Amino acid sequence: MFSNIRQSLSAREAFELVQSELREVEREIDLESIASVDAITTISRYLQVGGGKRLRPILLLLTNRLFGASTDSARRLAAVVEMIHTATLVHDDVIDFAQTRRGRPSINVVWGNHRSVLAGDWLYMQAFQIALRERNFHVLDVLISLTQMMVEGELLQLERLHRIDLTEADYMELVDRKSASLFSACARLGAVAARANEAAESKLGDFAWNLGMAFQLVDDILDFTSTEKILGKPAGNDLREGKVTLPVIYALENASPDERHAIETVIADAAYEHLPFMRILQILEQHDAISRSYERAHAFTNTSRKLIAAFPESPAKRALQAIVDLVTDRDS
Ligand code: IPE
Ligand code: IPE
Ligand code: MG
Ligand code: MG
Repeated sequence: MFSNIRQSLSAREAFELVQSELREVEREIDLESIASVDAITTISRYLQVGGGKRLRPILLLLTNRLFGASTDSARRLAAVVEMIHTATLVHDDVIDFAQTRRGRPSINVVWGNHRSVLAGDWLYMQAFQIALRERNFHVLDVLISLTQMMVEGELLQLERLHRIDLTEADYMELVDRKSASLFSACARLGAVAARANEAAESKLGDFAWNLGMAFQLVDDILDFTSTEKILGKPAGNDLREGKVTLPVIYALENASPDERHAIETVIADAAYEHLPFMRILQILEQHDAISRSYERAHAFTNTSRKLIAAFPESPAKRALQAIVDLVTDRDS
Protein backbone atom coordinates (compact mmCIF):
# COMPACT_ATOMS: atom_id res chain seq x y z
CA MET A 1 0.00 0.00 0.00
CA PHE A 2 1.02 3.61 -0.40
CA SER A 3 3.17 4.51 2.56
CA ASN A 4 1.63 7.96 2.92
CA ILE A 5 -1.84 6.51 3.42
CA ARG A 6 -1.09 6.79 7.09
CA GLN A 7 -0.72 10.54 6.72
CA SER A 8 -3.89 11.02 4.77
CA LEU A 9 -7.17 10.37 6.49
CA SER A 10 -9.28 10.72 3.38
CA ALA A 11 -7.13 8.23 1.52
CA ARG A 12 -7.42 5.76 4.36
CA GLU A 13 -11.16 6.17 4.31
CA ALA A 14 -11.08 5.48 0.57
CA PHE A 15 -9.42 2.15 1.13
CA GLU A 16 -11.60 1.26 4.08
CA LEU A 17 -14.66 1.72 1.92
CA VAL A 18 -13.74 -1.25 -0.21
CA GLN A 19 -11.67 -3.22 2.27
CA SER A 20 -14.10 -6.08 2.76
CA GLU A 21 -14.71 -6.41 -0.99
CA LEU A 22 -10.99 -6.33 -1.54
CA ARG A 23 -10.56 -9.24 0.84
CA GLU A 24 -13.04 -11.19 -1.27
CA VAL A 25 -11.11 -10.24 -4.37
CA GLU A 26 -7.93 -11.59 -2.77
CA ARG A 27 -9.72 -14.83 -1.98
CA GLU A 28 -10.98 -15.05 -5.54
CA ILE A 29 -7.47 -14.51 -6.91
CA ASP A 30 -6.16 -17.11 -4.50
CA LEU A 31 -8.73 -19.70 -5.57
CA GLU A 32 -8.33 -18.94 -9.24
CA SER A 33 -4.55 -19.13 -9.19
CA ILE A 34 -4.44 -22.86 -8.69
CA ALA A 35 -3.17 -24.65 -11.79
CA SER A 36 -2.82 -28.35 -12.43
CA VAL A 37 0.92 -27.76 -12.66
CA ASP A 38 2.54 -26.72 -9.38
CA ALA A 39 5.04 -24.27 -10.86
CA ILE A 40 2.26 -21.99 -12.05
CA THR A 41 0.45 -22.02 -8.71
CA THR A 42 3.70 -21.27 -6.88
CA ILE A 43 4.62 -18.42 -9.20
CA SER A 44 1.18 -16.76 -9.00
CA ARG A 45 1.14 -17.05 -5.21
CA TYR A 46 4.63 -15.62 -4.92
CA LEU A 47 3.46 -12.46 -6.65
CA GLN A 48 0.20 -12.20 -4.81
CA VAL A 49 1.75 -12.40 -1.35
CA GLY A 50 4.59 -10.09 -2.44
CA GLY A 51 2.32 -7.11 -1.91
CA GLY A 52 1.32 -4.53 -4.48
CA LYS A 53 -1.01 -1.61 -4.00
CA ARG A 54 -4.08 -3.29 -5.60
CA LEU A 55 -4.85 0.07 -7.14
CA ARG A 56 -6.59 -1.36 -10.20
CA PRO A 57 -9.13 -3.53 -8.34
CA ILE A 58 -9.71 -0.65 -5.92
CA LEU A 59 -10.49 1.62 -8.84
CA LEU A 60 -12.90 -0.90 -10.31
CA LEU A 61 -14.67 -1.45 -6.98
CA LEU A 62 -14.99 2.27 -6.27
CA THR A 63 -16.34 3.17 -9.70
CA ASN A 64 -18.82 0.34 -9.26
CA ARG A 65 -19.85 1.77 -5.88
CA LEU A 66 -20.67 5.11 -7.46
CA PHE A 67 -23.87 3.46 -8.63
CA GLY A 68 -24.91 1.84 -5.35
CA ALA A 69 -24.10 -1.41 -3.58
CA SER A 70 -21.17 -3.34 -5.01
CA THR A 71 -22.00 -6.22 -7.30
CA ASP A 72 -20.63 -9.78 -7.51
CA SER A 73 -19.59 -9.03 -11.07
CA ALA A 74 -17.47 -6.13 -9.83
CA ARG A 75 -15.67 -8.36 -7.36
CA ARG A 76 -14.94 -10.97 -10.01
CA LEU A 77 -13.81 -8.37 -12.51
CA ALA A 78 -11.62 -6.76 -9.86
CA ALA A 79 -9.82 -10.11 -9.55
CA VAL A 80 -9.57 -10.25 -13.35
CA VAL A 81 -7.87 -6.85 -13.70
CA GLU A 82 -5.39 -7.58 -10.91
CA MET A 83 -4.52 -10.90 -12.57
CA ILE A 84 -4.02 -9.17 -15.91
CA HIS A 85 -1.83 -6.60 -14.18
CA THR A 86 0.18 -9.41 -12.58
CA ALA A 87 0.60 -11.16 -15.93
CA THR A 88 1.92 -7.96 -17.52
CA LEU A 89 4.38 -7.49 -14.65
CA VAL A 90 5.68 -11.05 -15.05
CA HIS A 91 6.27 -10.56 -18.76
CA ASP A 92 7.58 -7.02 -18.19
CA ASP A 93 10.20 -8.26 -15.74
CA VAL A 94 11.38 -10.88 -18.23
CA ILE A 95 11.62 -8.25 -20.98
CA ASP A 96 13.35 -5.72 -18.70
CA PHE A 97 15.75 -8.28 -17.12
CA ALA A 98 14.39 -7.00 -13.81
CA GLN A 99 15.98 -8.16 -10.57
CA THR A 100 13.48 -6.98 -8.00
CA ARG A 101 9.72 -6.59 -7.81
CA ARG A 102 7.60 -5.76 -4.78
CA GLY A 103 10.71 -5.80 -2.64
CA ARG A 104 11.66 -9.36 -3.53
CA PRO A 105 13.65 -11.08 -6.26
CA SER A 106 11.49 -10.91 -9.38
CA ILE A 107 9.89 -14.02 -10.85
CA ASN A 108 12.36 -14.24 -13.75
CA VAL A 109 15.25 -14.29 -11.29
CA VAL A 110 13.73 -17.03 -9.14
CA TRP A 111 12.18 -19.27 -11.83
CA GLY A 112 13.91 -18.17 -15.03
CA ASN A 113 12.51 -16.66 -18.19
CA HIS A 114 10.93 -19.78 -19.65
CA ARG A 115 8.73 -20.59 -16.70
CA SER A 116 7.92 -16.91 -16.16
CA VAL A 117 6.66 -16.41 -19.70
CA LEU A 118 4.45 -19.48 -19.44
CA ALA A 119 3.13 -18.47 -16.01
CA GLY A 120 2.29 -15.04 -17.44
CA ASP A 121 0.43 -16.66 -20.35
CA TRP A 122 -1.48 -18.88 -17.96
CA LEU A 123 -2.45 -15.92 -15.79
CA TYR A 124 -3.77 -14.00 -18.80
CA MET A 125 -5.88 -16.94 -19.85
CA GLN A 126 -7.14 -17.58 -16.36
CA ALA A 127 -8.18 -13.94 -16.10
CA PHE A 128 -10.10 -14.26 -19.37
CA GLN A 129 -11.64 -17.51 -18.15
CA ILE A 130 -13.08 -15.68 -15.13
CA ALA A 131 -14.22 -12.77 -17.30
CA LEU A 132 -15.96 -15.20 -19.64
CA ARG A 133 -18.25 -16.25 -16.80
CA GLU A 134 -19.89 -12.84 -17.03
CA ARG A 135 -21.34 -13.94 -20.39
CA ASN A 136 -20.96 -10.35 -21.49
CA PHE A 137 -19.31 -9.64 -24.84
CA HIS A 138 -18.71 -6.02 -23.95
CA VAL A 139 -16.57 -7.07 -20.98
CA LEU A 140 -14.52 -9.37 -23.21
CA ASP A 141 -14.23 -6.67 -25.82
CA VAL A 142 -12.82 -4.20 -23.27
CA LEU A 143 -10.39 -6.75 -21.84
CA ILE A 144 -9.13 -8.14 -25.14
CA SER A 145 -8.61 -4.69 -26.71
CA LEU A 146 -6.85 -3.62 -23.55
CA THR A 147 -4.49 -6.58 -23.49
CA GLN A 148 -3.59 -6.07 -27.15
CA MET A 149 -2.96 -2.37 -26.46
CA MET A 150 -0.63 -3.26 -23.60
CA VAL A 151 1.27 -5.91 -25.53
CA GLU A 152 1.67 -3.53 -28.48
CA GLY A 153 2.86 -0.92 -25.99
CA GLU A 154 5.57 -3.22 -24.62
CA LEU A 155 6.67 -3.96 -28.20
CA LEU A 156 6.75 -0.28 -29.12
CA GLN A 157 8.72 0.39 -25.96
CA LEU A 158 11.26 -2.24 -27.00
CA GLU A 159 11.62 -0.60 -30.40
CA ARG A 160 12.12 2.77 -28.75
CA LEU A 161 14.65 1.58 -26.21
CA HIS A 162 17.96 3.50 -26.06
CA ARG A 163 16.50 6.23 -28.26
CA ILE A 164 17.65 9.56 -26.95
CA ASP A 165 15.60 11.42 -29.61
CA LEU A 166 12.31 10.13 -28.18
CA THR A 167 9.70 12.89 -28.24
CA GLU A 168 7.19 13.74 -25.55
CA ALA A 169 4.44 12.47 -27.88
CA ASP A 170 6.25 9.13 -28.39
CA TYR A 171 6.57 8.81 -24.64
CA MET A 172 2.93 9.68 -23.99
CA GLU A 173 1.85 7.01 -26.44
CA LEU A 174 3.77 4.40 -24.44
CA VAL A 175 2.27 5.60 -21.17
CA ASP A 176 -1.20 5.48 -22.67
CA ARG A 177 -0.72 1.89 -23.73
CA LYS A 178 1.29 0.65 -20.74
CA SER A 179 -0.75 2.12 -17.92
CA ALA A 180 -3.57 4.49 -18.76
CA SER A 181 -5.43 1.91 -20.87
CA LEU A 182 -5.62 -0.53 -17.96
CA PHE A 183 -6.77 2.16 -15.53
CA SER A 184 -9.42 3.20 -18.03
CA ALA A 185 -10.62 -0.38 -18.49
CA CYS A 186 -10.91 -0.80 -14.69
CA ALA A 187 -13.23 2.18 -14.34
CA ARG A 188 -15.27 1.19 -17.37
CA LEU A 189 -15.71 -2.34 -16.05
CA GLY A 190 -16.76 -0.96 -12.67
CA ALA A 191 -19.50 0.93 -14.50
CA VAL A 192 -20.44 -2.05 -16.67
CA ALA A 193 -20.73 -4.27 -13.60
CA ALA A 194 -23.19 -1.73 -12.16
CA ARG A 195 -25.16 -1.70 -15.43
CA ALA A 196 -24.46 2.00 -15.78
CA ASN A 197 -25.23 3.69 -19.08
CA GLU A 198 -22.69 4.15 -21.84
CA ALA A 199 -22.18 7.86 -21.18
CA ALA A 200 -21.26 7.21 -17.55
CA GLU A 201 -18.98 4.34 -18.57
CA SER A 202 -17.17 6.50 -21.07
CA LYS A 203 -16.81 9.43 -18.67
CA LEU A 204 -15.39 7.15 -15.98
CA GLY A 205 -13.09 5.62 -18.57
CA ASP A 206 -11.71 9.09 -19.35
CA PHE A 207 -11.42 9.89 -15.65
CA ALA A 208 -9.32 6.78 -15.03
CA TRP A 209 -7.32 7.18 -18.24
CA ASN A 210 -6.08 10.57 -17.02
CA LEU A 211 -5.39 9.07 -13.61
CA GLY A 212 -3.39 6.27 -15.24
CA MET A 213 -1.36 8.74 -17.29
CA ALA A 214 -0.50 10.65 -14.11
CA PHE A 215 0.24 7.40 -12.29
CA GLN A 216 2.83 6.26 -14.84
CA LEU A 217 4.38 9.73 -15.05
CA VAL A 218 4.82 9.69 -11.29
CA ASP A 219 6.19 6.14 -11.47
CA ASP A 220 8.80 7.42 -13.91
CA ILE A 221 9.57 10.43 -11.68
CA LEU A 222 9.89 8.24 -8.59
CA ASP A 223 12.34 6.07 -10.50
CA PHE A 224 14.70 9.04 -10.13
CA THR A 225 13.65 10.55 -6.83
CA SER A 226 12.76 7.62 -4.59
CA THR A 227 14.73 4.72 -3.16
CA GLU A 228 14.72 0.97 -3.68
CA LYS A 229 13.57 0.45 -0.12
CA ILE A 230 10.42 2.49 -0.71
CA LEU A 231 9.77 1.43 -4.31
CA GLY A 232 10.39 -2.29 -3.93
CA LYS A 233 12.36 -2.02 -7.20
CA PRO A 234 15.72 -0.30 -7.77
CA ALA A 235 15.89 3.45 -8.38
CA GLY A 236 17.50 4.77 -11.54
CA ASN A 237 16.35 1.63 -13.28
CA ASP A 238 14.63 3.15 -16.29
CA LEU A 239 17.64 4.93 -17.76
CA ARG A 240 19.84 1.92 -17.11
CA GLU A 241 17.28 -0.20 -18.98
CA GLY A 242 17.51 2.31 -21.85
CA LYS A 243 14.08 3.80 -21.17
CA VAL A 244 14.00 7.50 -21.91
CA THR A 245 11.21 8.84 -19.71
CA LEU A 246 9.65 12.28 -19.34
CA PRO A 247 12.19 13.81 -16.90
CA VAL A 248 14.99 12.84 -19.27
CA ILE A 249 13.10 14.11 -22.32
CA TYR A 250 12.62 17.48 -20.59
CA ALA A 251 16.25 17.65 -19.49
CA LEU A 252 17.47 16.79 -22.99
CA GLU A 253 15.51 19.69 -24.48
CA ASN A 254 18.03 22.15 -23.03
CA ALA A 255 20.97 19.92 -22.20
CA SER A 256 24.53 20.93 -23.00
CA PRO A 257 26.58 18.53 -25.18
CA ASP A 258 28.30 17.35 -21.99
CA GLU A 259 25.04 16.61 -20.24
CA ARG A 260 23.67 14.84 -23.29
CA HIS A 261 26.82 12.75 -23.40
CA ALA A 262 26.38 11.84 -19.73
CA ILE A 263 22.89 10.52 -20.38
CA GLU A 264 24.07 8.62 -23.45
CA THR A 265 26.86 7.06 -21.41
CA VAL A 266 24.49 5.57 -18.82
CA ILE A 267 22.29 4.17 -21.59
CA ALA A 268 25.28 2.73 -23.46
CA ASP A 269 26.81 1.22 -20.30
CA ALA A 270 23.44 -0.01 -19.08
CA ALA A 271 24.89 0.90 -15.68
CA TYR A 272 25.92 3.85 -13.53
CA GLU A 273 29.50 2.80 -13.98
CA HIS A 274 31.32 5.64 -15.68
CA LEU A 275 28.70 8.08 -14.55
CA PRO A 276 27.21 8.13 -11.09
CA PHE A 277 23.44 8.30 -10.64
CA MET A 278 23.96 11.56 -8.73
CA ARG A 279 25.25 13.23 -11.88
CA ILE A 280 22.05 12.35 -13.73
CA LEU A 281 20.00 13.74 -10.84
CA GLN A 282 22.02 16.96 -11.06
CA ILE A 283 21.29 17.25 -14.77
CA LEU A 284 17.57 16.75 -14.15
CA GLU A 285 17.70 19.34 -11.38
CA GLN A 286 19.58 21.79 -13.60
CA HIS A 287 16.75 21.75 -16.11
CA ASP A 288 13.79 21.59 -13.70
CA ALA A 289 12.95 18.27 -15.28
CA ILE A 290 11.36 16.73 -12.20
CA SER A 291 9.13 19.71 -11.40
CA ARG A 292 8.12 20.03 -15.04
CA SER A 293 7.19 16.35 -15.10
CA TYR A 294 5.13 16.80 -11.93
CA GLU A 295 3.36 19.72 -13.59
CA ARG A 296 2.48 17.49 -16.52
CA ALA A 297 1.20 14.79 -14.12
CA HIS A 298 -0.89 17.41 -12.33
CA ALA A 299 -2.43 18.49 -15.63
CA PHE A 300 -3.71 14.91 -16.02
CA THR A 301 -5.03 14.69 -12.47
CA ASN A 302 -6.76 18.06 -12.88
CA THR A 303 -8.66 16.62 -15.82
CA SER A 304 -9.52 13.56 -13.71
CA ARG A 305 -10.83 15.80 -10.96
CA LYS A 306 -13.06 17.71 -13.38
CA LEU A 307 -14.49 14.51 -14.82
CA ILE A 308 -15.31 12.93 -11.47
CA ALA A 309 -16.82 16.19 -10.18
CA ALA A 310 -19.81 15.64 -12.50
CA PHE A 311 -20.97 12.60 -10.49
CA PRO A 312 -23.36 12.96 -7.54
CA GLU A 313 -21.82 13.24 -4.08
CA SER A 314 -21.20 9.89 -2.38
CA PRO A 315 -18.55 8.19 -0.23
CA ALA A 316 -17.31 6.37 -3.36
CA LYS A 317 -16.88 9.66 -5.21
CA ARG A 318 -14.94 11.14 -2.30
CA ALA A 319 -12.80 8.02 -2.21
CA LEU A 320 -12.01 8.35 -5.92
CA GLN A 321 -11.10 11.99 -5.36
CA ALA A 322 -8.77 10.95 -2.54
CA ILE A 323 -7.09 8.47 -4.86
CA VAL A 324 -6.53 11.18 -7.45
CA ASP A 325 -4.70 13.24 -4.82
CA LEU A 326 -2.73 10.24 -3.71
CA VAL A 327 -1.44 9.40 -7.18
CA THR A 328 0.62 12.56 -7.44
CA ASP A 329 1.46 12.79 -3.72
CA ARG A 330 2.60 9.21 -3.32
CA ASP A 331 6.16 8.15 -2.65
CA SER A 332 5.84 4.50 -3.63
C1 IPE B 1 3.65 -1.14 -11.65
O1 IPE B 1 2.37 -0.83 -11.20
C2 IPE B 1 3.70 -1.00 -13.13
C3 IPE B 1 3.41 0.36 -13.57
C4 IPE B 1 2.40 0.64 -14.34
C5 IPE B 1 4.29 1.44 -13.16
P1 IPE B 1 2.07 -0.63 -9.65
O2 IPE B 1 3.00 0.40 -9.11
O3 IPE B 1 0.61 -0.42 -9.45
O4 IPE B 1 2.50 -2.03 -9.08
P2 IPE B 1 2.00 -2.80 -7.78
O5 IPE B 1 0.85 -3.65 -8.23
O6 IPE B 1 1.62 -1.82 -6.73
O7 IPE B 1 3.19 -3.65 -7.39
C1 IPE C 1 5.18 -1.00 -16.60
O1 IPE C 1 6.33 -0.81 -17.23
C2 IPE C 1 4.75 -2.42 -16.74
C3 IPE C 1 3.54 -2.57 -17.52
C4 IPE C 1 2.51 -1.81 -17.39
C5 IPE C 1 3.51 -3.64 -18.50
P1 IPE C 1 7.67 -0.46 -16.47
O2 IPE C 1 8.74 -1.37 -16.95
O3 IPE C 1 7.91 1.00 -16.54
O4 IPE C 1 7.26 -0.81 -15.00
P2 IPE C 1 8.22 -1.17 -13.82
O5 IPE C 1 9.06 0.05 -13.61
O6 IPE C 1 9.00 -2.36 -14.26
O7 IPE C 1 7.29 -1.43 -12.67
MG1 MG D 1 9.77 -2.94 -16.08
MG1 MG E 1 8.96 2.04 -14.53
